[in-house]
Parts: sequence; structure tokens; C-alpha cells
Amino acid sequence: MTETLHVGHGILPQLGALMRAARLDGAAHVISDTSVLPLHGDAVLDALRAAEFPAAAYAVPAGEPSKSLAQASALYDWLVDRRCERRDVVVALGGGVVGDLAGFVAATFLRGLALVQVPTTLVGQVDSAIGGKVAVNHPRAKNLIGAFHQPRLIVADTALLSTLPPRELRSGWAEVVKTAFILDAALLDLLERHAAALASLPPDLTIEVVERCARHKLAVVAEDERDEGRRIILNYGHTIGHALEAATAYGTLLHGEAVAVGMVGAARLAQRLGLCDRAHVARHERALAAFGLPTRAPAVGYEALRAAMALDKKGRGARIRWVLLADVADVRVADDVPDEAVRATIGEVAG
Ligand SMILES: NC(=O)c1ccc[n+]([C@@H]2O[C@H](COP(=O)([O-])OP(=O)(O)OC[C@H]3O[C@@H](n4cnc5c(N)ncnc54)[C@H](O)[C@@H]3O)[C@@H](O)[C@H]2O)c1
Repeated sequence: MTETLHVGHGILPQLGALMRAARLDGAAHVISDTSVLPLHGDAVLDALRAAEFPAAAYAVPAGEPSKSLAQASALYDWLVDRRCERRDVVVALGGGVVGDLAGFVAATFLRGLALVQVPTTLVGQVDSAIGGKVAVNHPRAKNLIGAFHQPRLIVADTALLSTLPPRELRSGWAEVVKTAFILDAALLDLLERHAAALASLPPDLTIEVVERCARHKLAVVAEDERDEGRRIILNYGHTIGHALEAATAYGTLLHGEAVAVGMVGAARLAQRLGLCDRAHVARHERALAAFGLPTRAPAVGYEALRAAMALDKKGRGARIRWVLLADVADVRVADDVPDEAVRATIGEVAG
């Protein structure tokens, strides 16, 4: 692992200097999207040029459909036009879509370019920019075509979150709440106490929460970079969450919203299996609702969700591996959960 993380409020102007300190060189190719580039592109280009990086930017259309081989191909064309060289740097400026797409391009162009992640969503800052999983989607399933490619540097400026649409911000809190439930009881207490205040992103508290989540993810990834063991705990809420996204054709729920429902589903499943009590489920529902997140999804139905889950890469063979909690920060992984328990749980959260 070579990545370095910087979290702060208003640190974007230091981007070029931080890249120099990370011994990055060459030209900078900024990949962003059509919503983020007009808002924050100039600040990034100024910061890069101030540190004498030749820099230019390319915006893909905002939104999940840009995580495609077609967009990757358009970016390869742009890099060829820019005469991109092996020592150059790809700077991903945006949310998880841009981070995953730009990371995939960086992993593959010229057999691998240095990658700098500048996440602009809460999902990006606490989750997707960290860990080196980069991918584009296949028409039949998300993230099927990808690589592991660690960023050399992650610069998370929490001031950028203030321009996020409110629903996108709320979606990000789901990953924060997830991190607290799986790894950090003190963070969960903090979130429960300050949920209302955090909605307006007070700088000190926001930095603390983002940095704590980001460092948890770094630590988990450091133990299991290629997702062969402990990293599965980060999948909490994602088995049902991913399936909900897929079964609704990525149109109804944002990723974080789907994960929120997925966490309630996982908690209910754990209760059904006798791992935890009803109070633990209720704690999930309260914490997520405090951040304006859903705890139930529109009726999707068991068959559609089961089919989507079977495609999820976390399955080993035909078996789905469930990440469940017996308590806060007490994770169990089970691959022998009876179908009937899953069916009943889905009936409760998405029936
Ligand atoms: N690689 C990983 O480990 C990992 C982890 C979690 C999620 N992901 C992926 O991340 C993606 C979701 O990421 P996301 O939730 O960040 O969505 P996103 O990248 O689509 O961003 C959400 C929306 O907000 C806009 N936006 C971003 N930053 C903004 C800002 N500061 N101000 C105004 N608008 C802004 C974007 O243009 C977009 O329209 C999914 O594709 C998911 O698969 C990857």
C-alpha cells in the first residue's frame, strides 16, 4: 500500500504541493464529470499549475451510466491526444462514479498510471476513493470489469461537500453509519448525538467523522488488499443493497439509500437467526432515519432480489456470504443462511 490520505476543510489549493510531496511528476490529466468540473475544476487546475503540473481536464456526463467501457474508451482517446506518458498522473475529481472510472483508466492505460483521488462526495471521501478497487459496469451487472489499483494520494476536502445535492449527501451518511456499526462504537455514539448538527457539515466534526471512516477503511484494506478475507466486512448492508440497486435498474434508489435498507435487512436477518435482539435492529433504524435515510425499500420482491444477489461477486459459488452483526463492531460472516430466513427478511424491508 502506497496511498497517503489527507482530510481537511479547504485543502484543495494544496493539491499540487501534496502531489509533489508524494513524488508525483509529469502532466496531470484531470477526469471529472459535468456537474463537478464547473464547480471545482478551476480550483483544481489552479492548484496543479501552481505546483507546475501541466494540467487539463475532461468531463464525462454525471451519473452512473458513465461507468462504462464506452466512456473509458473516450478517455483513452483523450489521453492519446494529450500524448499522455507513463510518468503522468490521472487525477479523479468527483464522486464514486468518476473515481471508479478514472481509476480504471489509470489502471489500464499504458499498463498503469499514477492515480490521485480527489473525492467530492461523502461516499467518495469515506469509501470509494480508498482501497484501490476501480471498475466500470457491464450491462448485466455493476463493477464486473475492473482492477485493483491503489491511489498514490487521496485528498479529501470536506468543504467540497457543501455543493452536493442534499440527497447525495444523505446517501453518503449511509456508508458512515455502516463504518460505525461494523468497526467503531464510539463513532456510532458520536453520530447518534450529532446527527442533526452534522447535516450542515460543521468543519471540525465533519473532518473528524470523515477521517475516522477513511482511516478505518485504509486499515481494513491494508489487511486484505485484494478482497480475499477481512475486507468483506465492508460489504455490510451491500448484499441486499446491491441487489436492490440492480433489481430497480439503478433508477429508484441511490447507492447509500439501498445500503441503508440493506443494513436494516442484515440486522433483521441477524435477529431472525438469533444473533442479536430487536433493540439492535431498532438502533439501526433510528441511526439511519436520523440522517434522513430509508429503512424500507419499494416492493421489489424476493425472486428479483435473489436473482440479483446470485450475481453479486461476494458469493462463493452459489452461496451468498452474509455480513451480519451480533452487536456493534462484532461482525460475523455466514454462508449458510437458510433461504427461508432471507425470504422473510426481504418481505419486511422490500416486500
Ligand atoms: N471503489 C469502491 O470501493 C466503491 C465503494 C463505494 C461505492 N463505489 C461506487 O461509487 C459510485 C457512487 O458514488 P457517489 O455516490 O459518489 O455517486 P456519483 O459519483 O454519481 O456522484 C453523485 C452525484 O453528485 C454529483 N457531485 C459529486 N460531487 C459533487 C459536489 N461536490 N457538488 C455537487 N455535485 C457533486 C455528481 O456529479 C453526481 O451527479 C457507484 O458507482 C459505486 O459502485 C465504489
